[in-house]
Amino acid sequence: MNIESPAMPYDFSDLEPAMSRDTVVFHFLRHQRVCYDRMRTLVRGTGLEELTLEELVRATERSPVHHALYRYAAEVWNHNLFWRSMRPRGGGAAHGRVGEELRNRFGSYERFTHKLKAAASAHFGSGWLWLVWRGGAPEIIVTHNAGTPLVRGETVLLALDLWEHAYYLDHQNRRAAYVATFLDELVDWELANGALAELGRVSESAAQRPRTGAPAGADPRLELS
Ligand SMILES: [Fe+2]
Repeated sequence: MNIESPAMPYDFSDLEPAMSRDTVVFHFLRHQRVCYDRMRTLVRGTGLEELTLEELVRATERSPVHHALYRYAAEVWNHNLFWRSMRPRGGGAAHGRVGEELRNRFGSYERFTHKLKAAASAHFGSGWLWLVWRGGAPEIIVTHNAGTPLVRGETVLLALDLWEHAYYLDHQNRRAAYVATFLDELVDWELANGALAELGRVSESAAQRPRTGAPAGADPRLELS
């Protein structure tokens, strides 16, 4: 298997005090790394060993035989996006292109955060909260368990883990406090701005490419893993 072991984009204690070192260590080592190890075990002998992580998630999503493999692969991919949705001393109103798009779509940044918090609170059980690019605008969606927008062809602008392991050590059962801390002290809007810039580059190069004999365009989602 060529899929590399997950790596954190910052040190375990760098998100403190907004997210404790214990939470990050437990989450990364005891959850994402375990998913990676199980994925690595399950992929052996399937004929899928040479796929990229994105290809593996897509190839196994609808396969009952590979359902466990799909869940572990999707969780590895989802967490990669989650870590990159935060930064040390992050948080605050969205800026740049994503800020503009959020204001266009939701009316104001405050209305966007209100809807995001409401969606997080309304979700029952484990899952993920996402900001994705859908139909030319940002959209808030929620997926259950290991569900991922990767298989729906949508570009991820932001990922927020709603599993209890993401916040229980710091906030116990107060998911709303976790989401508020994420927005106020952790979120990194550069993930979204980078994804939108990449989408623009892909659209531009597709528009300039000759129609006959042209190679297929790069999939912008592949830039997000
Ligand atoms: Fe998680």
